[in-house]
Amino acid sequence: MKISVIGTGYVGLVTGTCLAETGNEVVCVDVDAQKVEKMRKGEVPIYEPHLDVLFERNIKSERLTFTTSLKEGLMHGEIIFLALPTPADEDGSADLSYVLGVADQIGGLISQYKVIVDKSTVPVGTADKVKETIAMKAACDFDVVSNPEFLREGFAVNDFLKPERIIVGSSSKRAIGLMKRLYNPFVRSGNPILIMDEKSAELTKYAANSFLATKITFMNEIANYCEKVGADVDKVRIGMGTDSRIGKRFLFPGIGYGGSCFPKDVKALLNSGKKEEYNFKILDAVIRVNEHQKKILIPKIKTFFNNDIKGKTLAVWGLSFKPETDDIREAPSLDVIEELLSLGARIKAYDPEAMDNVSKKYGDKIELVNSMYDAIENSDALIICTEWSLFRTPDFNKIKSEVREKVIFDGRNLYNIKDIEKEEISYFSIGRNDVIAN
Ligand code: UDX
Repeated sequence: MKISVIGTGYVGLVTGTCLAETGNEVVCVDVDAQKVEKMRKGEVPIYEPHLDVLFERNIKSERLTFTTSLKEGLMHGEIIFLALPTPADEDGSADLSYVLGVADQIGGLISQYKVIVDKSTVPVGTADKVKETIAMKAACDFDVVSNPEFLREGFAVNDFLKPERIIVGSSSKRAIGLMKRLYNPFVRSGNPILIMDEKSAELTKYAANSFLATKITFMNEIANYCEKVGADVDKVRIGMGTDSRIGKRFLFPGIGYGGSCFPKDVKALLNSGKKEEYNFKILDAVIRVNEHQKKILIPKIKTFFNNDIKGKTLAVWGLSFKPETDDIREAPSLDVIEELLSLGARIKAYDPEAMDNVSKKYGDKIELVNSMYDAIENSDALIICTEWSLFRTPDFNKIKSEVREKVIFDGRNLYNIKDIEKEEISYFSIGRNDVIAN
């Protein structure tokens, strides 16, 4: 099929590349001419495992091409994906100016039937607004479909190629038929394409992300309480997770959720509720608990150093908001680092992928080093913010010889308490029994 994708951010790029991989002819449109030029040469603008291989293959076979011309993009595709940014407004609501701006142009440019697909995460009612905006200028038939993405960073290619479900929000038989034809190759395993109305599709995305953020946050509160009463959150987590109604996933406590989706979507749903005079009390609590959770290691660090952090050199392992991405948006590591800088600490940090992004943000305010062991050299303590696999089996002898106070503050519960006890390292994690070395 002929597909166009407007916007080559994270979602657009993965969508375009994976649709090309299944034999469609895909044209990606972006206003950024430099970016388009680079993509034409095969340069992937983001880090996402496996995307580079698919990208190169489909560019070579000319199934995946790029342009800055919206008109060209619209002429090409029978299905037009809108994968445009929906950043948070000052009040946390989703800013629809990019989506509606492009919708306005589409109206004046299309001359034959098109299916316009909202792929971005947009508030309930956006499909209707897009429809109205296009209709003001359109001289031909068109349909607007809500088709939210559920891609996890780091697993986006796999999530796209083997989705657990595909949501298609539309009331048009013609559009539904085309969407099914496009997506059938991805659900051969029997996973469903769920057809629903546009509003329900839009809300499904917010509800799913807000529920997952709530699940993590609930577990974070249980972990904090475990520390008060001397219980072990790992045992509680497994005990709870074996109940199939709860499930084992997304119960890992830590220094809070981050990223480009959960924080933005929870706030946006809360704000959409307010506009309808509905107060999502749970979401309000989730946001507050998560903000607090991001700094949950700070009192532990302060107590360990008797409130004297000034001049201490603190090594930080992991800066991205989660492993397998270079994304630092809303990363808890940034909250930890900023708090420690304000207390006068010197930060030496390492991350396998996110160093460029952190360097752009902090310049020389923190020292970025080339390896996890360079970070601990001549440090006073080690703080772990992201659970990269690389950090799971470190050389504890090196930690003991380099980290002056022989202490780890682990925001992601990477190590087994029993193993750590043998190492004679002081160890502070989340919701488990702290190990204080003699
Ligand atoms: C999420 C959704 O999973 C995806 O479906 C949606 O489309 C986009 O948002 P992503 O932001 O890539 O994907 O990250 P995800 O793997 O879901 O993790 C989100 C955050 O929760 C991370 O900060 C992670 O560290 C945290 N998390 C996750 C926990 O703290 N504990 C857990 O048990 C799971």
